[in-house]
Amino acid sequence: MRIAMIGGGYVGLVSGACFAALGATVVIVEADEHRFNALRDGRIPIYEPGLEELVSIHRAAGRLHFVNTIDEAVDGVDAVFLAVGTPSRRGDGHADLSYVFDAVDQLAGALTGPAILVTKSTVPVGTGARIATMMASLRPDLAIEVASNPEFLREGSAISDFMRPDRVVIGANGACARAVLSALYQPLTQQGVTLLFTGLETAELIKYAANSFLAMKISFINEMADLCEKLGADVTQLAHGMGLDHRIGAQFLHAGPGFGGSCFPKDTQALVRIAQDAGAPTRLVETVVAVNEARKAAMTGRVIAACGGSVRGRRIAVLGLTFKPDTDDMRDAPAIGIIHRLVDEGAIITAYDPMGMDHARFQLPARVTFCADAQSALRGADAAVLITEWAEFRALTPADLCAALRGRTVIDLRNIFDPTAMQAAGIAYYGIGRPQPPAINQRDRRAQTPYREPRRERSLSVL
Ligand code: UDX
Repeated sequence: MRIAMIGGGYVGLVSGACFAALGATVVIVEADEHRFNALRDGRIPIYEPGLEELVSIHRAAGRLHFVNTIDEAVDGVDAVFLAVGTPSRRGDGHADLSYVFDAVDQLAGALTGPAILVTKSTVPVGTGARIATMMASLRPDLAIEVASNPEFLREGSAISDFMRPDRVVIGANGACARAVLSALYQPLTQQGVTLLFTGLETAELIKYAANSFLAMKISFINEMADLCEKLGADVTQLAHGMGLDHRIGAQFLHAGPGFGGSCFPKDTQALVRIAQDAGAPTRLVETVVAVNEARKAAMTGRVIAACGGSVRGRRIAVLGLTFKPDTDDMRDAPAIGIIHRLVDEGAIITAYDPMGMDHARFQLPARVTFCADAQSALRGADAAVLITEWAEFRALTPADLCAALRGRTVIDLRNIFDPTAMQAAGIAYYGIGRPQPPAINQRDRRAQTPYREPRRERSLSVL
């Protein structure tokens, strides 16, 4: 099998490399000059565990190639995948399909024979039909079949999600598309993976519906967390008790500061718009979006309350910036809004993230000090805020925190620390949906006095 993958970003690069691992020959088209140069030179412009090695192996085997124009990619291919960006359109939540239709226009000019066009990117319901109509008009001389093959890749585990999927969804009305995609995924189906064939519109909607349902689970448990705090219950135990019901399942029931990333915020808003436009508004998903946005904003208030009502002049150490661990992606990360609001309230922020700081610099206030490791960020801070649950932060003990911090306040927005151990060490620990310690008390009087910079020249922006 020979396929072209239009787009070498999170979806296209991972999917292309994995298709090569399944035995296909893949030509990935990356139009962005910087990304193309990086890929051509063997550098991976995104962080995804295992991706660099996977690309290197299959490129060396001659199954993975990179070009920067569609013309160079489509000769003799069995299928063309569209994996270009479909960001939220400014202001109204609809998906911006300009990159999709630009690619379709270029394909119309480049194709020399019948083809199968497969949307891999998340596209609004009906996009496949629009592409088919465009192609019939632009190239009436060619037999073009359009299919939908949505991805269900989580950043940080994308390769595993591709190679061991719960199912492969294929929306295809034509026999050729079904045959080609069945052959392409045959290495997975022979391992027992289900290939689910549906109509085009159903496949397109499955992606939005699945992501919105997962987002709904998150907003649900986040609301339960707030209720737990009022009732003296523990949301981690609540989630465990709920998740033991196999009909509910334990995943996506971890309370936190709200969901971020390049998908959930975009896809839930897009589904709201799609449903409104179709005259079947989804009030549930509208509420999921509203709950999530309000929650991200509320997190700053928690930090301020834990610091006695004001963070002015206080030094706050932030651990974790990316929207989730094992990625460098800062898109819609809760940390962005939290830090901006804390700086607006006069806090002095030190921050550390294992992978996200290069991207974070462009999205956070210039006054934020980026540190080389967690200890540097914590050192001398009045309070610590854990925003992203990177594995290395779970290794921090109460003794580590007491040794580094000037104050004794820890706000844990991911419930990774043990409240009992924290409180036994004299730390005023604030989790999410967990019994809170008494209001700020004498133990943390140090955190009541504004932080004073030691008398020394401050030359470094990174500690
Ligand atoms: C998601 C979907 O899981 C994936 O199937 C789809 O293809 C793309 O979007 P991703 O956005 O990479 O994947 O990450 P995910 O692990 O789903 O987390 C999304 C957000 O939800 C993150 O901000 C994460 O912190 C948050 N989350 C996740 C929670 O707050 N609680 C949870 O229990 C799980």
